[in-house]
Amino acid sequence: MDRLQTESVLLEPLTRDDFPWLFVLYADAEVMRYIGHGPRTEEESRKNLEWLLGHGERLPFGYWVLRDRAGGERLGGAVLMRRREGTPVELGFMLARPAWGRGLATQVAQALVVHAFADLVLPELQAFTDVENTASAAVLRKAGMRDAGLCPGPYGGIDRRFELTRDDWLLQRSSIARLPNMR
Ligand SMILES: CC(C)(COP(=O)(O)OP(=O)(O)OC[C@H]1O[C@@H](n2cnc3c(N)ncnc32)[C@H](O)[C@@H]1OP(=O)(O)O)[C@@H](O)C(=O)NCCC(=O)NCCS
Repeated sequence: MDRLQTESVLLEPLTRDDFPWLFVLYADAEVMRYIGHGPRTEEESRKNLEWLLGHGERLPFGYWVLRDRAGGERLGGAVLMRRREGTPVELGFMLARPAWGRGLATQVAQALVVHAFADLVLPELQAFTDVENTASAAVLRKAGMRDAGLCPGPYGGIDRRFELTRDDWLLQRSSIARLPNMR
């Protein structure tokens, strides 16, 4: 997995040193309000994070810990993951509360979309949000993903699904690049 960066955020591949900080993040009821079955116990989080560590060893993508580029402190996590063989790679992100509302998730989602299509050459991406998670849906739209409507999500409920193919991403980029010539 590569280390990545945006204007304000460093994306560093997950290590076991990050686990204690992430246990606290995953136990925060506000952060977990729209994710899975809500706050997780340390045991649940450890199991999930061990799976994500293994994912990043098998594949060139997985879970990145987000750090503030200026101060170095952890801000949250973001993921490109294949939950099951044969399913599209899924984009996800989660920030600690002090990091909300500063445009950081948008920066990270945009960077991971570019990484997925330009560097990893994935054919498509998908993402799921709770139907009430308007902030997350806004982030995904701003990352160029298309609202594909409601469908069964990864945790058994009905979620909003977002998708983007590499072909559509290339089209988006070429139309953005052509704009200056159209003036
Ligand atoms: C959802 C989350 C990632 C958004 O991150 P963020 O860095 O605060 O988002 P941004 O600052 O990039 O804002 C993106 C958009 O969401 C909007 N937004 C941010 N917080 C919002 C809120 N609480 N309610 C409604 N809209 C909100 C912003 O106004 C912005 O939209 P705009 O540019 O059209 O105005 C963050 O709140 C979070 O980590 N929440 C907990 C975990 C979670 O739900 N993760 C997503 C799981 S699918």
